[in-house]
Amino acid sequence: MDHTASIRLDEKEFSLPVMVGTEGEKAVDTRKLRVDTGYICYDQGYGNTGSCTSGITYLDGDNGILRHRGIPIEQLAESSDFVETAYLVIYGELPNAAKRKEFGMKLRQNAAIEMQMQRIFEGYPRDAPPMAMLSSIVASLAAHYPDLATNSFERDLANFDLAAAMAISKVRTIAAMIYRYQKGLPYVFPKQDLPFCDNFLHMMFSEPYQDYVAVPEVARALNLLLLLHVDHEQNCSTSTVRTVGSSASNLFTSISAGICALSGPLHGGANVSVMQMLHAIHAEGDDGTRFIAAAKLGSKDSRLMGFGHPVYRNFDPRAKIIGKACESVLQKLGIKDPLLDIAKRLEEAALKDDYFLSRKLYPNVDFYSGIIMRALGIPTSMFTVIFAIGRTPGWIANWHEVAATPKGRIYRPRQVYIGPVKRDYVPIVQRV
Ligand code: CMC
Repeated sequence: MDHTASIRLDEKEFSLPVMVGTEGEKAVDTRKLRVDTGYICYDQGYGNTGSCTSGITYLDGDNGILRHRGIPIEQLAESSDFVETAYLVIYGELPNAAKRKEFGMKLRQNAAIEMQMQRIFEGYPRDAPPMAMLSSIVASLAAHYPDLATNSFERDLANFDLAAAMAISKVRTIAAMIYRYQKGLPYVFPKQDLPFCDNFLHMMFSEPYQDYVAVPEVARALNLLLLLHVDHEQNCSTSTVRTVGSSASNLFTSISAGICALSGPLHGGANVSVMQMLHAIHAEGDDGTRFIAAAKLGSKDSRLMGFGHPVYRNFDPRAKIIGKACESVLQKLGIKDPLLDIAKRLEEAALKDDYFLSRKLYPNVDFYSGIIMRALGIPTSMFTVIFAIGRTPGWIANWHEVAATPKGRIYRPRQVYIGPVKRDYVPIVQRV
């Protein structure tokens, strides 16, 4: 195969190296283009730009394929759990029994939020947006554990195992505390003997003198939800974590930036928008026809939420898994949710409609995830927070890849300037 590409610019021909990934993905290496030719590549939103090489997740959006460290998401969803998949994504291999025990122990030992940090919560209004609280409280981990967050790649990598376990475990505890704070309920502290998801549900839903004990179906459904969100290649929040991390910013502040990116309705906030849409359809007694018609007008504000994806031009494999799980969880819990019927009808109608078919718009992971969370008793305001708990291992793995890449560049894209050309300073207001 020819391992160079050629480009003709201003009557001159330049050759550029071609890269091929392990799954045969091809890229033209344009790093020297500007130096050699004066041209940059323009790609608004980086839709066709590889910002890094990565060994974590493989995603083929045309064929609906998602694999972590080579293992298909379907197999992980079937046979693994959130903690094991987190380990796989972060460390590159499935853990053996000893490693799994050690990792689990670190998560359990680092679950609590100490007293001084608890006071931060009191500074927020009770109705503060949970993702805004989460991002700032996670950033404050860097202030509370400065030895693990030194902003030196070398020192922070030396403490990586502890910082990573802390981030995964404490993001979950902070999430539960935000929920309790907003409801005006006393905090429930983590229990060392509970598995990861059971512990989260215990911290969310226990009553004074009455511990919440999750039924296995509920803990399993939450486990699956978190597992399906563990990583997703160079999405908006993960790219943000890599960008921030590339300045040698520590793990906690980099994750906090990822949480900010995730909070938007076009990314992690979509699961909230899906529920708002389903509720609105239910309240109107509509069958979804009006929403589909409005979505087809092409306005960004009236899109069919939970449909379409920046990279999938096929079914999101996670949506297939969640769609099936949704039905079986509700059945096992004996819940009849009219929103599930509406979602199914909406999906069926959209998948027959030429507007969606021709644009290859299929349900994404957010389409059914909200209905499962609602069945577990998780309020809509917490949906994106749950996504953040699930995505934390992916952010950690990507931060590590940036930090551990020798001679990695700081992320610093260029632009095509379209503002005014040089002009003189002519004061409008005369100074006295
Ligand atoms: N409903 C109606 N039309 C849509 C939708 C939708 N949900 N999504 C895309 N389109 C149309 C869009 O108007 C455009 O039409 P035209 O070609 O006539 O201009 C065409 O489809 C292509 O859209 P695009 O803007 O190029 O798509 P994109 O790849 O930039 O956007 C997206 C992807 C996810 C932002 C978008 O599909 C969307 O807004 N979906 C709804 C929000 C949502 O569910 N987001 C969750 C994404 S998955 C979670 C995650 O990984 O973060």
